[in-house]
Parts: sequence; C-alpha cells; structure tokens
Amino acid sequence: MLYKKIKISENIEFDNVILAPLSGITDKPFRETVKSIGAGLVVSEMIASHAVIIKEKEALKKASRSNIENMTSVQLAGCDPDIMAEAAKINEDKGAKIIDINFGCPVKKVVNGYAGSALMKDEYRAAKILEKTVNAVKIPVTLKMRMGWNHDSLNAPKIAKIAEDLGIKMVTLHCRTRCQMYKGKADWKFTEKVKNSIKIPVIVNGDIISIDDVKNAMSISSADGVMIGRGIYGRPWFIKQVLDYIKHNNQNPQEPSSKEKLSIIMKHCSKTIEFYGERKGLQIFKKHASWYCKSLPNSSYFRAAIMKEDDSKTAIKMIEDFYAKVT
Ligand SMILES: Cc1cc2nc3c(=O)[nH]c(=O)nc-3n(C[C@H](O)[C@H](O)[C@H](O)COP(=O)(O)O)c2cc1C
Repeated sequence: MLYKKIKISENIEFDNVILAPLSGITDKPFRETVKSIGAGLVVSEMIASHAVIIKEKEALKKASRSNIENMTSVQLAGCDPDIMAEAAKINEDKGAKIIDINFGCPVKKVVNGYAGSALMKDEYRAAKILEKTVNAVKIPVTLKMRMGWNHDSLNAPKIAKIAEDLGIKMVTLHCRTRCQMYKGKADWKFTEKVKNSIKIPVIVNGDIISIDDVKNAMSISSADGVMIGRGIYGRPWFIKQVLDYIKHNNQNPQEPSSKEKLSIIMKHCSKTIEFYGERKGLQIFKKHASWYCKSLPNSSYFRAAIMKEDDSKTAIKMIEDFYAKVT
C-alpha cells in the first residue's frame, strides 16, 4: 500500500504527496492552486532567516499563508542557529503550522554564506541549527537536504540521524549531491540508506514527473511519500493524479478536461494578480502562462504575444481566448 498519512505531531498529519519548495514558483497563489486541487502538504519558497528577523517586506510576503492552503510548511534558510531559531519563532507566532529547514539549496550565493547545502559539509553547525530551531518552537520542524556535498561525502544518513535525535519530525531527500546541482539522474535508491538510519518519515524527491516515476521512486526508495517539484510546471493537477495513483491504485489517473484546466488556470491567474498587484502579478504569471500552453497548438505564437502584453485585462482575455480554442 503506497498511500499513508504522514503524522508529524499530535494534530498534524497529511497525505504523502507533497509540493516541493521552488523559489520564484511556489508562491502563495500557486500553493493555493495546488492545494485546492489536492496536495497533502505544500511548502513555501525558501525564506532567508535573516530577512525574517529584520522584517523585510518581501520575506514576510513569501511566508504569508491562507486558509485555502490549510497545510503549509514555511521553509527557512540560514547559517546562524540563533537567527534561524528566532525566524522560526516569528513564523510560528504568525500562524505557521510547520517549519522546514533548508540544507539543500546549491546556489553559490546561498552556499557561500554557509547556508543551504553548505551545511552538509559542517555537521556541527548543522546540528546547532536543528537543535536551536526545534527548541525555539512548539510546532514540528522538518528537514530537506541533499545526499551530501559530493559523492565522496554522502552523509545524508548521518545528518538524518542527528536530526531525528534532535527532534526533527520528517526528512525529505533530494537524491542528488550539491556538486551535481541539477545534473544527472536523481538516485532514488540512496533514500533507502536515509530511511534505514531513522524512524521518522522520509520523503523521496527528484525527477518525479510521471506516474511511472512515482511507482519506481516509491518502490526503489522505500520512502514514506513523494515530493514533486518541476513536474508540476504548467500542470498543477499532476499532484492530484499522483494522489489518485497512490491512494486508489489508479494506474492511469485522468487529467482534468480542458474546461477544468482553463478554470484552474484562470483562478491561478486572478490569485496572482490579486496577491502582487496588476503589473507585478502579470509579470509573474507570464512564466506560468508559457508553461500552461506548452505543447498545445499555436503555443509559440501565444507565448510570444503574451510575453509582450503589459495590460492585465488584455492578457487575461488572451489566455481565455487561447484556451477556449483548445477546449
Ligand atoms: C527553480 C527552482 C527553485 C527551487 N527552490 C527551492 C527552495 O526554495 N527550497 C528548496 O529546498 N529547494 C528548492 N528547489 C529544489 C526543489 O525543491 C527540488 O528539490 C528539486 O527541484 C528536485 O525535485 P524535482 O526534480 O521534482 O524538481 C528549487 C528547484 C528549482 C528548479
């Protein structure tokens, strides 16, 4: 049986299909869209702990959540244990239900500041961050990490054990090393090593873009659940298909009809404009619009036209007209 509820505290449990944190993508409008279709848990974009402390407007906006999302985890990144702890507490006070700690981000700007996946190289600092953050809040704290810095230091099982001993409630593994960045194929099998080192739930992540991938990743990894990232670009409904497969053993879960897709897309669009305002909202939504139209007839023409459009009402009409033609 692939389906299970992941229980990480007395009153927090969710279906074992999770939307990955994706900077610049899993903002509140997108998380609401995915959650309302059917994810067990959605995770915010990574938020710099220091920015939370100094109450940077952008960071607070990223951490904001709504009732529609219901189950959202706020992901924090940083290298200073005290600042991470304080940022976690601020988010708890603002109503966050779960804090996720980022030991996975590979980008230079983050690792040069000794945060993200750089912490896989510094087990002492990593442990301090985990310990202080867990002790600062009453809500559950989870961890997302990579397999290690490189293939000579695959220490995820060791860090997972340290994390469990310090009170972390769930571990997600992006099955690559930092040095791989996003290259190569995610090594789902490695998750088994993490799974065997701890008793808390382990989630497998990386390169899961089809139902066959879900099937293989779950069986190869023995994980308790899956986290989906880039596989939802332009198809937030994929997460529901994954849940249909996992929960009901539906080997061929249906895509929504074109009409249903259009309704999801338009709601996502209006939420984005409402959240960011017309100008910025449209700018941000254009990226999603181009993913939504991928591989549909005349999509390259539509993509070029929408990218040039600056008026949100005209853009919304263009999206409606485009999809009306393919429904
Ligand atoms: C554009 C982009 C932004 C990302 N942002 C984050 C982030 O904020 N926090 C994080 O832990 N991982 C982040 N990741 C990593 C993903 O959560 C995920 O681990 C990775 O993409 C592998 O999963 P996938 O193949 O399903 O996308 C990001 C990845 C991408 C491509």
